[in-house]
Amino acid sequence: MEGLTLKPNSKNNIEKYRESVVSRYPDVLTEIYQEKVNIAIWQRTLSNSCLENVSELLTQQPNFKVVVTVTPDEAYQHLAEHLSSFQNQHELCQQVSLLVDMFCTLFELKRVGLRLTALDRPMCPKFHVDKVPCRLVTTFTGSATQWLENNVIDRTKLGAGSIGLPDEESGVYESEEQINQLLTGDVALLKGEGWFDNLDGGLVHRSPAVKVNERRLLLTLDFID
Ligand SMILES: [Fe+2]
Repeated sequence: MEGLTLKPNSKNNIEKYRESVVSRYPDVLTEIYQEKVNIAIWQRTLSNSCLENVSELLTQQPNFKVVVTVTPDEAYQHLAEHLSSFQNQHELCQQVSLLVDMFCTLFELKRVGLRLTALDRPMCPKFHVDKVPCRLVTTFTGSATQWLENNVIDRTKLGAGSIGLPDEESGVYESEEQINQLLTGDVALLKGEGWFDNLDGGLVHRSPAVKVNERRLLLTLDFID
């Protein structure tokens, strides 16, 4: 595939070999179906007008939050209703509904759990795996999600295994340079441990630390039973 970068990320466990795939093209997201891939990243650049609109939205509505279950056909209208008091809503509604459509098409879903929320603190500050099949995440503004390649992780230090220590002390990774971070605008599929036969293969990730006075706008899309 043109523009596709493959990066091996496991060395110890053949069964749970996992790697990341990154591309400037959206069809990279289909690579998540490969057993060995646990994160697919579409390096998307948001338009200046979209960035300006998002910034304006968070200035006007610093606690903006939508949590809704939608079909691809409903997504735009639902968001438009939640954003009814925001004049420049069109591009954001369009961008989000496009991602809903892509996510549903990719996984043959009729509807999706959509969460679009402003954040001024980390939701999940410690490295963890999600107990879901797969989650789409994208940050429209602010710092984006951090993640680790499989081969640097000591999974025994996740969750209770951290014995309450912060990530920098728990031993879940060896050095700060091993921490990868998505960019604002990137669209990523994070394979969870609810994916078929993916126990111990889920993408290890966390929310980024939020800078003083920084506010993020984070979109997540999830499977709905
Ligand atoms: Fe998570």
